[in-house]
Amino acid sequence: MFELNGKVAIVTGGASGIGLATVKAFLEKGAKVVFADYNEAGGLEVEKDLKEQFDHVIFKHVDVSDEKSVEKLVASTVETFGRLDIMVNNAGVGILKQSHELTDEEYKRVISINQDGVFYGCKYAITEMLKTGGGSIVNTASILGSVGEAGAMAYNASKGAVNLMTKSLAVEYASRGIRVNAVAPGYVDSGMVNKEALGDFYDGLVSRHPIGRLGKSEEIAHAIVFLCENEFVTGITVLVDGGYTAQ
Ligand SMILES: NC(=O)c1ccc[n+]([C@@H]2O[C@H](COP(=O)([O-])OP(=O)(O)OC[C@H]3O[C@@H](n4cnc5c(N)ncnc54)[C@H](O)[C@@H]3O)[C@@H](O)[C@H]2O)c1
Repeated sequence: MFELNGKVAIVTGGASGIGLATVKAFLEKGAKVVFADYNEAGGLEVEKDLKEQFDHVIFKHVDVSDEKSVEKLVASTVETFGRLDIMVNNAGVGILKQSHELTDEEYKRVISINQDGVFYGCKYAITEMLKTGGGSIVNTASILGSVGEAGAMAYNASKGAVNLMTKSLAVEYASRGIRVNAVAPGYVDSGMVNKEALGDFYDGLVSRHPIGRLGKSEEIAHAIVFLCENEFVTGITVLVDGGYTAQ
């Protein structure tokens, strides 16, 4: 068992939703956590709250689509805590728009955050983990990495890539002690999925999950903890989707 107590973790997209639930789950298990997000004001507010309860938690600003920014995040984490054991590449964005109307800029924004961001996060985490003999990486994919969604072509493409990047890296680094897995949530109430952001589309979502509700961020965080703790899993994508993809 990969004990989380005392381990050093980075969670990107940690200021809200699934990332924040993961930050809390790690802290409750005794990990030291750097959570990073593009939303600096939100992150600093969350940091203030968490510091009332936990000693080892720090917020850092990051833009995961910028390689230098991710390199700096990993370097400053190692400078503060001495090592890096866990990397959760969770930051992500979506766009719902007919594909023939999608601009080049909109398409590339989704790919650069959801896909390139995972590449940069894995690249710099692996560089550190190789120095200490290993670690655990979890990438947040999606059900939409496995099945199509009308109007979500760029998002589908980015999450499909995350699934295979995860398998590829798992195979490449398993013998060097680094495990790489992914979690694929169904629709979860969060900053990204809410009535205000999605309008009519949101109303139809519940009935598409056989369990009859959307997921909770804590339920996804639970799977991320499992993927970190279980030392015999690598290269898998765990679906936590209320039966969405079983149909
Ligand atoms: N909510 C869902 O239904 C759902 C389903 C499947 C997968 N996911 C995935 O889960 C992950 C977390 O999303 P969430 O649902 O918690 O939504 P969320 O909007 O609450 O959280 C995403 C976080 O990523 C941050 N972020 C966006 N762009 C960034 C950038 N360039 N650099 C750093 N941070 C950035 C946002 O500020 C935000 O805090 C995403 O990868 C998303 O694609 C979500």
